[in-house]
Amino acid sequence: MQSTKQTSPPPLLRALERLPADRVPVWFMRQAGRSLPEYRAIRGSESILEVLKDPELSAKITLQPVERYGVDAAILYSDIVAPYVSMPLELDIVPGVGPVAGAPLRGPEDLGRLRPLDPDRDLAAMAETVDICSCALEVPLIGFAGGPFTVASYLVEGRPSRDYLITKELMFTDERSWHSIMASLVDVALAVVGVQVAHGAAVVQIFDSWIGSLAPRHFNRFVRTHLEQLASGISDLGVPSIYFGVGTAGLLPEIATTGFAAVGLDWRSDLGAAAERYGDALGLQGNLDPATLFASEPFLLDEVAATLRESAPAAGYVFNLGHGVLPATDPGKLADVVAFVHEKGLALRMEGSR
Ligand code: CP3
Repeated sequence: MQSTKQTSPPPLLRALERLPADRVPVWFMRQAGRSLPEYRAIRGSESILEVLKDPELSAKITLQPVERYGVDAAILYSDIVAPYVSMPLELDIVPGVGPVAGAPLRGPEDLGRLRPLDPDRDLAAMAETVDICSCALEVPLIGFAGGPFTVASYLVEGRPSRDYLITKELMFTDERSWHSIMASLVDVALAVVGVQVAHGAAVVQIFDSWIGSLAPRHFNRFVRTHLEQLASGISDLGVPSIYFGVGTAGLLPEIATTGFAAVGLDWRSDLGAAAERYGDALGLQGNLDPATLFASEPFLLDEVAATLRESAPAAGYVFNLGHGVLPATDPGKLADVVAFVHEKGLALRMEGSR
């Protein structure tokens, strides 16, 4: 393994506390997975849900990107819907499609199917995976859970959706059931990240990928209190939290006041403006367009440099993409980005603040 021994605390944790660090921390959403040949080599052909029953294999996959790229964090190999497999939702993750629920939640009669998790029974393999990773890692392990709106979108629609119409219809027409679902999903998320932190995860990221489909008014009425609960529950665990969604530029003023320690920006958000506005109060993470990894090397590194300069007003900054690594990404390009951020990150942030 590449030497990643650090003076404590590590750069990622320093950045999330908005303290200066000796380098700009960098990791990539969806860094473990299909873009890595070593992942495809050990992954086999069964569903990711099968792989997750095998802690040794799941841990190996979690560690692969740290070994290859020298990133400043590992993110647990799991999935936002994995905690729901034991519930009567007929859940599967279909390759090329995503999460599918054969028995989706459509109304009050279905609410009983969202039962609380029993960590000892339902999260035992995850706990063991986190144990193995924590022992092996010299950088922090990021635990994660799905944000309640995004998980609800899968469990209510029954499959990935473009317009979230069934989800919004439920939200608008049966507010009681909606809030009950959201409360249950927050309980599940807190049980999941509770186990991850108890077994060694040092940071928690909430992936609320599809929250950007909501108007600010709807965010405030239908989601806010649940995110506040989630943020305060993570805070009680004593670890920093990062909240990430796609298309959140218009929601940033709302998200900024939910209580998360840091916010991950998607690539369409204006990092510079967010850093000016929120950089004293919030850690910021992001937001290189994942498609720039398909550009020429000079173009790519110019984009990385521009991102670092824009981040300057943020006291705490973590370099990342603006969404997950695309499956066809060349791992060599990601390695170059890590080396560049480590070598030039602090100087470019200084340059940006002038
Ligand atoms: O490296 C990491 O980031 C850790 C692992 C991780 C996975 N899913 C593994 C996975 C994480 C953090 C997730 C989160 C997740 N899952 C999100 C939020 C992040 C985002 O991309 O917005 C979402 C929306 C999901 C739901 C989901 N699961 C989708 C849309 C898919 C892709 C389906 C496909 O095949 O196109 C999955 C499956 C999945 N989860 C894969 C991986 C590596 C791919 C299938 C596989 O290799 O088994």
